[in-house]
Amino acid sequence: MRQRALLAWAASHRRDLPWRRTRDPWLVLVSEVMLQQTQVDRVQPYFEAFGERWPTPQQCAAAELADVLAAWQGLGYPRRARNLWRTAAIIADLHDGHVPADLNDLLALPGVGPYTARAVQAFAFGIDTGVVDTNVGRILARWQGRRLSPREAQRVADDLVPAGESWAWNQAMMDLGAQVCTKRDPSCDRCPAQLWCAWTGGVLGSESSGRPDPADRSAGVSSRQAPFEGSDRQARGRLLAALPGGPLPTERAAEAMWLERDEARAQRLVEELIDEGLITSDGNQLRLGSGRTCPRSS
Ligand code: ADE
Repeated sequence: MRQRALLAWAASHRRDLPWRRTRDPWLVLVSEVMLQQTQVDRVQPYFEAFGERWPTPQQCAAAELADVLAAWQGLGYPRRARNLWRTAAIIADLHDGHVPADLNDLLALPGVGPYTARAVQAFAFGIDTGVVDTNVGRILARWQGRRLSPREAQRVADDLVPAGESWAWNQAMMDLGAQVCTKRDPSCDRCPAQLWCAWTGGVLGSESSGRPDPADRSAGVSSRQAPFEGSDRQARGRLLAALPGGPLPTERAAEAMWLERDEARAQRLVEELIDEGLITSDGNQLRLGSGRTCPRSS
């Protein structure tokens, strides 16, 4: 049976990653939020530091947003940190401090989409559900031999999960995507799924390369990220990086973003960061955080 072949392969190829050593739902959630847009290697030290500092949602909810944002520094996409902090407060208030296992309860949390919700279900609670991230989306499209809609990808993913083995199966899919069925240059000759892969035609030793990749623009498969160099994201990151040491005079914001020659753009970015609750301004100075404690959900 095809699942057995992949699970057997995975048992000897499993990457030892810190979030795989825990089933604590809060820590699993933290790891999955960090992994949404950031590579495994970069996430590891941040995940370990975050888990030591805020091992429960209650502790995270009680923290200042500025401290959570400072701990996120360098990981990128700081809205994730703000959402996680808000999520911590909702879990503390509405769910008695326990991360919910129900799909709709999870989807109602800020920053938790279909991928993250199902990752928490599978990796923390062992619920039989398919976890479709960019790697898994790519594998599914190749196995099916065609581009999939989000609904199709989820259904195919769900159908593949061997009952009671959701944790191992979904981790195995991620390992296959990271180590064998890579985006560029997949190693089809050493793939345990070759016999049922429509892209290779189910022929052992056949070469998929050369044929159009069905994963292109298929559900869950991320397209190329816009270049970071010169981006708004880079400038915003520079400003946030200047703030953990203390407040910054507003007139120095453009300089901190390396945008001295584009004051209008600098001002727009400052306003966006204020609107998003990532920084505050008292008119003269900019500070990290929203300047408020976490908005309670009750
Ligand atoms: N990416 C997202 N979740 C992951 C996990 N649990 N293991 C490895 N990579 C991941």
